[in-house]
Amino acid sequence: MHSVTLFALAAPLAALALPSGSLLTRQELQSINELFVAKGKEYFGTCSDQNLLSNQQNAAIIQTAFGAVTPENSMKWDQIQPTQGQFNWDGPDFLMDWAETNGKIVRGHTLVWHSQLAGWVNSVTDPAALTEVIQTHIAEVMGRYKGRIYHWDVVNEMWNEDGTMRDSVFSQVLGEDFVRIAFEAARAADPDAKLYINDYNLDTADSPKTQAMINNVNKWVEAGVPIDGIGTQAHLTGGMGSGVAGAVAALAGANVAEVAITELDIAGAAAEDYVAAVDACVQEPKCVGVSVWGVRDTDSWRADTSPLLFDDSYQPKDAYTQLIASLS
Ligand code: XIL
Repeated sequence: MHSVTLFALAAPLAALALPSGSLLTRQELQSINELFVAKGKEYFGTCSDQNLLSNQQNAAIIQTAFGAVTPENSMKWDQIQPTQGQFNWDGPDFLMDWAETNGKIVRGHTLVWHSQLAGWVNSVTDPAALTEVIQTHIAEVMGRYKGRIYHWDVVNEMWNEDGTMRDSVFSQVLGEDFVRIAFEAARAADPDAKLYINDYNLDTADSPKTQAMINNVNKWVEAGVPIDGIGTQAHLTGGMGSGVAGAVAALAGANVAEVAITELDIAGAAAEDYVAAVDACVQEPKCVGVSVWGVRDTDSWRADTSPLLFDDSYQPKDAYTQLIASLS
């Protein structure tokens, strides 16, 4: 019979003719962003940059599955203002244009951070000079993309594990006042952006670091520092997924409008860890979004732990399938 013959031929031909990343594969991939938004959340995103957005298979997954992008490196200080007064806009412009062409939200990352900091900033020793350096950096970077970036990670990783303030040029020269200076500059540069303080190892509700974040944010917000949200990076090891709900609820108990999971990746990518971590955001009314820190294991900063939702061949892993099922 013709129909049987045709059917028998069609499937292997389609499989042979269409590489992954093709239209057929993309149609089959379900969007985690759509399901997450249907739960009342704002976005489910990932990080990327020009190199990976120019990779068609990777870009196709982001187009289909995710609703937001965070620049993985291109907006960091050492890349965007490596020399005082000289700004590199190519990488960030590429990401912004790609996001707008494809209808994705952008989370800006990151303005004041001790790491991936341009060397010249470390030699500023005068408080007034460093204040101006911070203000100029924020005005230039946020100003260029004013009205186009949804969230900004204004201050990143300022706490030690014991809840004390991390040693950096910012804390050494300005004490904790660098936080006020940065957030006030950020509000002035783009009043529409939601302003975040972001950190890692906020994965246990009662740890000294989590408590320092909550208590100090409360103190600063009370004093009028314009902080809108707390970001928890959530770089986890296997088995930690079940703790995320308590940690996110504790952070949401701070005097901020919202919280987000900003850089989720989980060593081993066990489905139950991913489902529990994402469910923590679903269950917390103040949690607006989740971003995973990359698409495919190969491209992860923790590649040796295979922590992401897609394998080296761009195929969704069990964790992705289980997330789709849990959100459906
Ligand atoms: C990482 C990037 O993924 C790497 O490509 C880069 O070499 C180092 O930084 N916390 C953060 C992110 O806030 O910016 C870091 O991203 C991971 C830890």
